[in-house]
Amino acid sequence: MELHGTTIKAGDGVIFELAGANYDPAEFAEPDRLDLSRPARRHHAFGYGSHQCLGQSLARVELQAVYGTLYRRIPTLALAVPFEEVGFAMEGVAYGLKSLPVTW
Ligand code: HEM
Repeated sequence: MELHGTTIKAGDGVIFELAGANYDPAEFAEPDRLDLSRPARRHHAFGYGSHQCLGQSLARVELQAVYGTLYRRIPTLALAVPFEEVGFAMEGVAYGLKSLPVTW
């Protein structure tokens, strides 16, 4: 079969990068823009299928508590450096930030 210009033959091994699915513009408008209010019900942040994250219910509750409380308690919270200076840690299996300087 052909998939986006690449031929996949019978018996070929295929490894999917699930995180890439969350940046599919056909599914999510402006995928590079952080929009916490977008109705992104079909994201793959917690994986998919038999190895889907076992802790996702706990993680969802924790994140709702953290973000809900943080922005309500500290409404002036803002980046202390230009966004371009925020260092991203992209070298592991999990993405993250090297540091996040903030001010309020
Ligand atoms: C925002 C927080 C979290 C994110 C984004 C996340 C993301 C993921 C993803 C993408 C996978 C699938 C990995 C794969 O396909 O191989 C996964 C698996 C897993 N997660 Fe999470 N996770 C989070 C929090 C948690 C928490 C809080 C727990 C436990 C308390 C947890 C336990 C697990 C376990 C045990 C698996 C392996 C499931 C399996 O292989 O059958 N995760 N997680």
